[in-house]
Amino acid sequence: MTTETQGLFRSAAFRLSLFYLAVFAAFAGALIAYMAWSTRVILAAETRETIAAETRELAEEYAADGIQRLVEAVAKRSQGPANALYLISSFAGESITGNIAYLPLKTLKAEGYQRVPYRHTGDAADITREAELRVFRLTGGFVLVVGRDISERVAVERVLWRAGIFAVVLTLLLAVAGGVFVRMRILKPIDAMSDTARAIMGGDLSNRVPLSGSEDEFSRLGESLNAMLARIEALVRGMREVTDNVAHDLKTPLTRMKARAEDALRAIETGKGLDEGAQRQVLEDTIREADELISVFSALLAIARAEAGEGAGHDRIALGALAADAAELYEPAAEDAGVKLTAETADEVFVSANKALLARAVSNLIENAITHGRTGGGGKVSIRTARNGRFGELTVADNGPGIAEADRKRVLDRFVRLEQSRSRPGSGLGLSLANAVARLHNGELELNDNSPGLRITMRFPLAEAGGNDGGGKGLGG
Ligand SMILES: Nc1ncnc2c1ncn2[C@@H]1O[C@H](COP(=O)(O)OP(=O)(O)O)[C@@H](O)[C@H]1O
Ligand SMILES: [Mg+2]
Repeated sequence: MTTETQGLFRSAAFRLSLFYLAVFAAFAGALIAYMAWSTRVILAAETRETIAAETRELAEEYAADGIQRLVEAVAKRSQGPANALYLISSFAGESITGNIAYLPLKTLKAEGYQRVPYRHTGDAADITREAELRVFRLTGGFVLVVGRDISERVAVERVLWRAGIFAVVLTLLLAVAGGVFVRMRILKPIDAMSDTARAIMGGDLSNRVPLSGSEDEFSRLGESLNAMLARIEALVRGMREVTDNVAHDLKTPLTRMKARAEDALRAIETGKGLDEGAQRQVLEDTIREADELISVFSALLAIARAEAGEGAGHDRIALGALAADAAELYEPAAEDAGVKLTAETADEVFVSANKALLARAVSNLIENAITHGRTGGGGKVSIRTARNGRFGELTVADNGPGIAEADRKRVLDRFVRLEQSRSRPGSGLGLSLANAVARLHNGELELNDNSPGLRITMRFPLAEAGGNDGGGKGLGG
């Protein structure tokens, strides 16, 4: 067996169609066998009926006038239609009259209805036909045979049998053809899907199910699978980016920490020693750097979770109150940087979100405005909340250098920091987190020109009326 035919027989659909058609063929065969059989029974009954009727007539003749009269009647009837068969033979088995030229020997010895081959007196020596007949033994050793030719009947039966076999064979052929068709046309898309799945498991995430372009179930399934695969590919790519980023961006500070510790150790070992102040400095620097690393890790983790759809909250949050709290929190930092911080908040703008994540995102935006905006006098940062149609908006605007149109998408990626801000503190994760949090709550982050400066807006769908108050006030509080 070739692998192709092996595959064919292993295909469930092929086996199923074979099974159904085998059942159907058996049914068709049984039906035709029943028809042939009942036809045979009915026709045989009819023949026997005719033979019986004729026998009654001949018996009357025989009863009236004996063997002489019977012989005359049989001789006369033998001239009639060729399918009516008669024979009277002597006790010695010699034919006295009738139209049967030949019968098998044992026929005359048996009684009752028989189905036997015979030859008609009008036939050539090599022809045999079939007859249904009955043998009667008369007094004086005479034998009377009355019968009917059934060649036609037999031919009809044979035709019926042949039709039956033909029907069964044809059905089986159709079964095979149907199975092959199902396999070729209907199972091809399924095979294509498993090929795709295998390719993807082999590591090629960009593989997609080929679409035939028809509007059938397979196409719809293929489209859904492709959409799912695209989403998975995006997630996996995101994960890969995170690990790459971590590898790249955390290596430098870690190496720096290690170098500093090694320097200090070497100084102690060479006996030069470090005075107490210098030792303190080394430790403080190390702790500060470790803290930074921890916060980077925590931000990365938060972003990854938010992007994976984890942690979406359903706190009912008053956007205005949240903004006012944040402004108050950053007031001292703004003052230190020489920046004027103002908040203009609207009441009754509620969104549904995770309060801690939202507060963290807003803090990032305010922090950015203070650090990357205009510093050293003349800096202005304004926080505003408002209702805009079905959305609640929180905007943070500054009057600093802003972000060029071309960079506005890029800065949302992890670890991206613009050239102009390299000297400022930060790790390039603030906007990524804000963006991930916005998207986690079906919202968006929009960066605009504040000319001068950056105006950045977080936009969320408004919360339904009612729901729980997310202000952190518990029942007992
Ligand atoms: N208000 C702003 N004004 C100008 N540039 C900004 C502002 N906010 C962010 N940026 C730019 O976008 C980059 C990414 O911001 P962010 O993700 O918060 O990283 P970080 O603040 O740690 O540098 C910043 O490095 C900075 O170049
Ligand atoms: Mg930042």
